[in-house]
Amino acid sequence: MTEVPEHLLKRSKDRRTSLDGGSPGEAAAAPAAQSAPIEKATAAAAPAAVVPAAAPEPVPPYVEAALTRKKIPYWAMPVLAFLPLWAVIFIGGLSPSSNGEPSQLATGQAIFATNCAGCHGAGGGGGVGRVMTDGALVATFPDIIGQLEFVWIGSNGTGPAGTPYGDPARAGGQHKTMSYNGNPMPNFDKSLSQSQLLAVIRYEWETLSGGKTTVDAEGNITYADGKPMLDAAGELITPEGKLLFDPVGKLTIQPNWTTPSGSKS
Ligand code: HEC
Repeated sequence: MTEVPEHLLKRSKDRRTSLDGGSPGEAAAAPAAQSAPIEKATAAAAPAAVVPAAAPEPVPPYVEAALTRKKIPYWAMPVLAFLPLWAVIFIGGLSPSSNGEPSQLATGQAIFATNCAGCHGAGGGGGVGRVMTDGALVATFPDIIGQLEFVWIGSNGTGPAGTPYGDPARAGGQHKTMSYNGNPMPNFDKSLSQSQLLAVIRYEWETLSGGKTTVDAEGNITYADGKPMLDAAGELITPEGKLLFDPVGKLTIQPNWTTPSGSKS
C-alpha cells in the first residue's frame, strides 16, 4: 500500500475545502463567521423595525399629558377650596327672598299667568277682560285695597250690573260692573288665598299698570306708612291690624281714592 505523503493530503483537503465551501470540520466555524453579518443586518434593520412595532398602540397626546402633568394645579387649590361656598352664594342669589321662596312679585306674576292672562292678555293688554297697562288699574283704583276687594268678590259680589266701583272721580268716568263687554269679572275668594290675592294684585297694579308701592325688608308690599298688609297667618289686615275683609269679602275700611299713588287707608 503506497503511502500518500502528508503534504499531499493537506493540499487535497485544502482543495476540497475551497471547492465545496468547507468541510464538516470547519462548518462549526462557518456559522459563527456568518452570524456576524446577520447580527449586523439585524442591528441595521432594528430602528426600522421598532417604529412599525410602536405604531399599533401609540400613546395619545392627551393621555401622555395626563400622565405627566401635576394632578391638581396649585392655582386651582383655592378655587376648589371655595367652590362649596360659592355654590351656596350662587344658589342663594337665585332666590330673590331670604327664606328661599320666590318673591311676592314673582309669585304674583305666576298667579297672573295661570289665572288672569287668559282674559286680560299675557301682558295685561286686555281681551275678554279689561286693559291693565298704561296706568289703567291705578286710575280705577288709586288705592290698591279697592282692587283687592274687586278681584276677591268679582263683579257679581260688587253688585248688580251697573254698580259703580273704584274711584268715583276716575278720569274718563267711574267704572261700572258688566260695562266692559257684558261679561263679569270672576270672584277669586274661592280659588286664591289672601296672600296670593295680594301678590297678583300687586303684580298687576305695580308691574303692569305702573303703580308705586312701598315694600318692607323682605320686599313685600306694605301700606304707605310701612305697616304690613298681611298678618302672620297670611290674612289681609288694615293698618290698625284688623281684618281687611268682612265675612262677605267687602272692605272694612274705606279706600282713600284721593291718594294718587301708593296704598294708604
Ligand atoms: C273669565 C275672564 C276673566 C278672568 C279669568 C279674569 N278677569 Fe278680570 N275682568 C274680566 C272682565 C270681563 C272684567 C270687566 C268686569 C266688569 O265690567 O264688570 C274684568 C275686570 C277686572 C278688573 C277691573 C279693571 C278696571 O279697571 O275696571 C280687575 C282689577 C281685574 N279684572 C283683575 C283680574 C285678576 C287679578 C284676575 C286673575 C286673578 C282676573 N281679573 C281674571 C274678566 C276676567
